[in-house]
Amino acid sequence: SHSWLIVPAAGQGRRMGADKPKQYLTLADGQPVLAHTLARLHGAFPSARLVLCLDADDRWFSPQWVPFTNWQRVAGGSERMDSVLNALHAMTATDDDVVMVHDVARPCITQGDLLALYQAATTNPAGALLAMPVADTMKRADDQGLSTRTEPREHLWHALTPQGFRYALLRRALETARQRQTVVTDEASAVEALGESPLLVSGRRDNLKITHPDDLALAAAILAAQAV
Ligand code: C5P
Repeated sequence: SHSWLIVPAAGQGRRMGADKPKQYLTLADGQPVLAHTLARLHGAFPSARLVLCLDADDRWFSPQWVPFTNWQRVAGGSERMDSVLNALHAMTATDDDVVMVHDVARPCITQGDLLALYQAATTNPAGALLAMPVADTMKRADDQGLSTRTEPREHLWHALTPQGFRYALLRRALETARQRQTVVTDEASAVEALGESPLLVSGRRDNLKITHPDDLALAAAILAAQAV
C-alpha cells in the first residue's frame, strides 16, 4: 500500500490582501510558503505520493518547489473540499491507502506532529486529525456582536492539519457532503457526518495557518525558532 499527501493550494488567500496568493509569498530563505510546506512534508514522508491542487489559472507555481519524485498536479475547485475531491478522483489509490490532507498555508508543521498524525490515522479506522485544545474562554455572540453566553471549553478543540484517513472513507465522506450540498471546511467534518469519529491528536501550538498579513512574519519567526 502507498501513503498519499493531498495539498490543497488552490485558494486565493484574499484575507492576506497581497498581490498574489499567500502560498507564493516569500517566507524565509528566499523560498515561498508553498516550498517550505512541501519541504516539511517531504522530510517526514520522502516516499509518499503527492497530489497538489492548484488553480487552473495559477501564474506563480514552479515545479522547482516540489521535492517529491512521485507527484501530480490537479485543478482546484471552487471550495477547498472541491479541490480535495478533485485530488481523490485523480489519484490511483487503493481503498486502504492512507491519505493525509495538509493545508499549503501551514508551513510550520513539524516532523514529530506529522509522524504522530500518520500513526494515529493508520491505527484509528475513522482516521485522525491534528488539533489543539481551546485555551481561551469561548463566547457565543448574537447578530449585534453582544456576548450572550459562555461555551464550556472542556470539549472544544481547534482543528488543524494534516488530517489523515483511509482513501475509501475519505472519498465516501466528501462525496456524501457534496451530494448533501454541505460545504465542509475540513475533512473530519465530512467523516463525522457519516457517524464516524476521527481521533483528535494533540498537536503543537505553532502549527500556524497563514491567513492574515501579520502571520507571514510570525511563521518566519516560528521556523527560525524551530531550527535552533
Ligand atoms: O483560505 P484557507 O486558508 O481557509 O484555505 C485552506 C487551504 O485550502 C489553503 O491551503 C488553500 O490554498 C486551499 N484551498 C483550495 N481550494 C479552494 C480554497 C482553498 O485548495 N477553492
